[in-house]
Amino acid sequence: MILVTGGAGFIGSNYVIQAITRGNQKVINLDKLTYAGNLETLKKIESNPYYRFIQGDIGDRILLPEILNKFQPIAVINFAAESHVDRSIHGPGEFIETNVVGTFNLLESVRAYYESLSEEVRAQFRFLHVSTDEVYGTLSPDAPAFTENHPYEPNSPYAASKAASDHLVRAWFHTYGLPGITTNCSNNYGPYQFPEKLIPLMIYNALNKKSLPVYGDGLQVRDWLYVGDHCDALEVVLRNGRIGETYNIGGNNEKTNISVVKTICYLLDQLSPRKDHKSYIDQIEYVRDRLGHDRRYAIDANKIRKDLGWSPQETFETGIEKTIRWYLSNPDWVHSVISGSYREWIAKQYKH
Ligand code: NAD
Ligand code: TYD
Repeated sequence: MILVTGGAGFIGSNYVIQAITRGNQKVINLDKLTYAGNLETLKKIESNPYYRFIQGDIGDRILLPEILNKFQPIAVINFAAESHVDRSIHGPGEFIETNVVGTFNLLESVRAYYESLSEEVRAQFRFLHVSTDEVYGTLSPDAPAFTENHPYEPNSPYAASKAASDHLVRAWFHTYGLPGITTNCSNNYGPYQFPEKLIPLMIYNALNKKSLPVYGDGLQVRDWLYVGDHCDALEVVLRNGRIGETYNIGGNNEKTNISVVKTICYLLDQLSPRKDHKSYIDQIEYVRDRLGHDRRYAIDANKIRKDLGWSPQETFETGIEKTIRWYLSNPDWVHSVISGSYREWIAKQYKH
């Protein structure tokens, strides 16, 4: 039995579906169901006897002890977070509340539970904290990729709140012996990503005759990883990672934003051509840049490769095609997650 938090979001739901589909793992999924959490995603496993969903907040100091004591998980994987940089710029409060205070409260609930376990079970217990490469800040064009030893230099409210949560996990290990491990992963893409992040937003907008808003000059670089590869890496870290360590996870796929957007356009031109036979490229529009926009992220994933034997299976080319085909085949999922509040967000973020 493992407790997954935030398992109704993008990466968490991919992880839960993978774990349940493998069939050897019971999963409790605790999720607050913010705008980013969606039970539609988990429909195909909802009646599986190995799976159970509980709606709740990681910071709830009454609910968490109840869940932990009742279900006795052997591990907690913490995906729950506010995760969108642009939203953190408009309203950082929720990010501090969930990512910092929520993680603190979760750690305290888990610590009390951990201390109640037998020595034998304690030896197996893990707290896996899922974090981001954005905690390291930004890189100049030819600087080496982030290693685990790179200093923390977060630049957005989102990145700062995740950095704070990473520090809490580290301190709870060093001070209280809570067997935490933190992973810092690069940008993910794939099925079930909410269409506010670059790749699903571009696919959705292209297909719905909307403009494709590229921030600034579009030459910012991100290092893309297919979500299934991230989930595999987390599984490997959970099984074989060393407690108190951090592991960088990345896909070796550095791309400028404009090249990602153009790739999406070219693939859509083939897979779902526009009625007027023009290219989706015509829909690209350069818009005002993000405040404090980090120029480049790149992950050095040598540690996880050498120590734990993980490396990604998908290239960007295979992963992006799979992803586009998934969005083309699942328009109902997209419609179900796009609510009134989504439309309000889009109006606020992209107003001229
Ligand atoms: P997401 O926004 O899609 O999902 C977050 C989930 O957490 C949602 O289901 C939401 O309802 C839930 N949640 C939010 N606040 C909660 C709370 N207080 N209590 C319980 N549940 C709560 O995010 P994602 O993209 O799936 O990211 C998951 C984790 O991975 C995050 O911690 C994020 O920082 C990290 N990460 C994401 C990426 C990426 O590219 N998306 C890359 C590296 C790391
Ligand atoms: P995003 O998917 O928000 O991830 P992150 O900010 O965590 O890296 O954005 C990826 C990159 O794409 C980032 O450099 C911002 C840029 N971007 C755009 O140019 N236009 C958009 O509409 C969005 C959402 C992002």
